[in-house]
Amino acid sequence: MFETVALVGATGAVGRIMRQLLEERDFPAKTFRFLASARSAGSTLTFKGQEYTVEELTKSAFAGVDLVLASTPDDTAAEYLPSAVEVGATVIDESGYWRMKDGVALVIPEVNPEDAINAKGIIASPNCSTTQMVMALKPLHDAAKVTRVIVSTYQATSGAGVQGTADLLEGSRAHLDGKVHSYKAFKKPIAFNAIPQIGSEKEQGYTSEEMKMVYETRKILGDENIQVCPTCVRIPVSNCHSESITVETAKPVSPEEARELFSNFPGITVVDDLKEGLYPLPNECDGRDEVFIGRIRRDISNPDGITFWCVSDNLRKGAATNAVQIAELLAAHRFQKV
Ligand code: A2P
Repeated sequence: MFETVALVGATGAVGRIMRQLLEERDFPAKTFRFLASARSAGSTLTFKGQEYTVEELTKSAFAGVDLVLASTPDDTAAEYLPSAVEVGATVIDESGYWRMKDGVALVIPEVNPEDAINAKGIIASPNCSTTQMVMALKPLHDAAKVTRVIVSTYQATSGAGVQGTADLLEGSRAHLDGKVHSYKAFKKPIAFNAIPQIGSEKEQGYTSEEMKMVYETRKILGDENIQVCPTCVRIPVSNCHSESITVETAKPVSPEEARELFSNFPGITVVDDLKEGLYPLPNECDGRDEVFIGRIRRDISNPDGITFWCVSDNLRKGAATNAVQIAELLAAHRFQKV
């Protein structure tokens, strides 16, 4: 088992769930440490029935640590995580900073586990909207080679951290009371709205969140030829991202074949019966670790296309669960037993 696991960003929206998962899944480590910013240092949290003091993240905080699980803003990950690698720790990072760097593995355990096993230093966990989409693409890619993807996302406020959900709740209350809420996590009001911008402006009129879906998908699937056209939208749902995904494949895939491929893939649950009104809903996927797929049908505009609806808990499989699964994969590989 690991000697000492450090959870960095332990007080954040994802960090809290990582803590819960490490506890629930009885992660194999002798000692756990919890780190966050100076703002939270000295506060206490409970883990496995024991009280722990949150420590301040500093460059010298990693002595004796052999595994780091981190979920912080990008600049924090950039500044502090190399210090953990320097003392020999394996780092699993949820931030966006390291994902596309050369030599950094970008891993979804069900899709490219070998990249985690062969990795040195930092292993990145993908962006939440990429992870659920690539989980769905992988069985299609293996069976029929994905060539093109058109995706629109409907993303929850929890993706913007603890403050994102506070903004949704407080903004909604203020809106109903006829008051003005001053939003902190969003540049536009999210209550009773839909915001077609997540992240900053990048190339050709696409946003940073959208370009993550383009580049990360290619890196994880190891195929630079996959074309992805994304539109990322923030909606007033507190948790779970939804995506409308249309896929073109080199070899045609029927909806029946797609349903079969999805059903047989680990980590995917198919919920698909339109007649009965059955399809994945964000409020029903909340707190679950799987990727849910429904509304599977032919793309009626394209004989080589299929289209479907995909929902997943962005804090779990989109972030904390994926990171903890990577850690479990390493534990199983190194210690032969989780
Ligand atoms: P803190 O709670 O002390 O601010 P969120 O999901 O809310 O965005 O959480 C981000 C996590 O990253 C929190 O645990 C937060 O700690 C931590 N964090 C943010 N900035 C820093 C920093 N400069 N140094 C260390 N941890 C940070």
